[in-house]
Amino acid sequence: MTESVAFPQDRTCPYHPPTAYEPLLDDRPLSKVSLFDGRSVWFVTGHSAARALLADPRLSSDRESRAFPTLTERVARVRTKRVALLGVDDPLHNAQRRMLIPSFSVKRVNGLRPRIQETVDRLLDDMVEKGSPAELVNAFALPVPSMVICSLLGVPYEDHVFFEEQSSRLLRGPTSDDTQHARDQLDAYFHALIETKRREPGDGLLDELIARQRESGEPHTEELVDLALILLIAGHETTANMISLGTFTLLSHPERLAELRAGLHAEPPLMPAAVEELLRFLSIADSVLRLAKEDIEVEGSTIRADDGVIFSTSLINRDTEAFETPQELDWHRTNRHHLAFGFGIHQCLGQNLARAELEIALRSLFDRLPDLRLAVPADEIPFKPGDTLQGMIELPVAW
Ligand code: HEM
Repeated sequence: MTESVAFPQDRTCPYHPPTAYEPLLDDRPLSKVSLFDGRSVWFVTGHSAARALLADPRLSSDRESRAFPTLTERVARVRTKRVALLGVDDPLHNAQRRMLIPSFSVKRVNGLRPRIQETVDRLLDDMVEKGSPAELVNAFALPVPSMVICSLLGVPYEDHVFFEEQSSRLLRGPTSDDTQHARDQLDAYFHALIETKRREPGDGLLDELIARQRESGEPHTEELVDLALILLIAGHETTANMISLGTFTLLSHPERLAELRAGLHAEPPLMPAAVEELLRFLSIADSVLRLAKEDIEVEGSTIRADDGVIFSTSLINRDTEAFETPQELDWHRTNRHHLAFGFGIHQCLGQNLARAELEIALRSLFDRLPDLRLAVPADEIPFKPGDTLQGMIELPVAW
């Protein structure tokens, strides 16, 4: 078995998995990689093994567990590892998720579409008024999901510079002090916001949770802060990366873009299928982490209790056993069971919202700006390193 590949590594092209992982594909569906601290962990690259393992309760998501794998020294040294939902196991996970599910249902999200469209149109108006060229991450890709999640949660968007900066430091450091400081700042921010909301209730999801707490005592305040934090961060960083990297990818594939433009107003419209395919192709959340609680036999190997397990969504979503010609962007795939949103009990809570935002944002952007293009050569545009969510750091565009 190939065992010498270090994880994580940077992509060489923003929309393809790192070439450094290619030797690992000889051992698909399961190989091993080594982490910064020399620890060897399982690396899942096969689609069917990934689905089986992600549905297996013997794999834990408990980030407070000492043996839980960490990808960087920066994160390993952070004191507070408490993460609601994503970082807890059942039964606590189930209790937290049940409180939130109604707010992210297809029906609820469809009700938000007009508001998302208004937000997108306003941002495009501003961008067009300021004129070409523009930097799309700050002008559009980040504010769309940031405004939407603020309005859904009842967090004042006026505070966006603060929380966008803190979540970026939480996810990307650069040092463990930065990460810890960002976490402390965000905790303090939400404690204060919850206090304010207790005095002056609003109509967001946080207000609903506060009302629930008043009636039943649940969720307790620390848990409420943790839920607010994960929802705010997961709700804007992810979709922002998909909008920026999705736009870059479309501009780098002119034939697929032309086909998509031609199908924007077709019936049925092509955009929902294109969003699904972009989610598969880009796999921006490229490392889903777990810890084995017991021995697990899988595909002739034994994952031992306390072993770390990493799922590479980008390689899983390009498994030739699951997808025909997976290296190609194809709007007409019938097989859409990609794992870009994960699988099993932790499968993305915000996926309906993310799909709606992506459809509206990308459709409106390419509709409104038919001449949209990169403002500088593609290889000069910086993208994010391998230890975080994948996406563009900046995206200079012209029209
Ligand atoms: C395109 C954008 C998005 C992608 C690619 C994405 C990806 C993922 C993935 C892979 C997971 C599973 C992690 C695991 O199993 O450990 C996840 C979980 C989660 N996502 Fe998303 N996500 C996106 C957008 C959103 C949005 C808009 C929200 C809104 C709040 C959100 C909230 C969450 C939450 C709360 C969880 C944890 C669910 C649980 O543990 O039960 N995500 N996401």
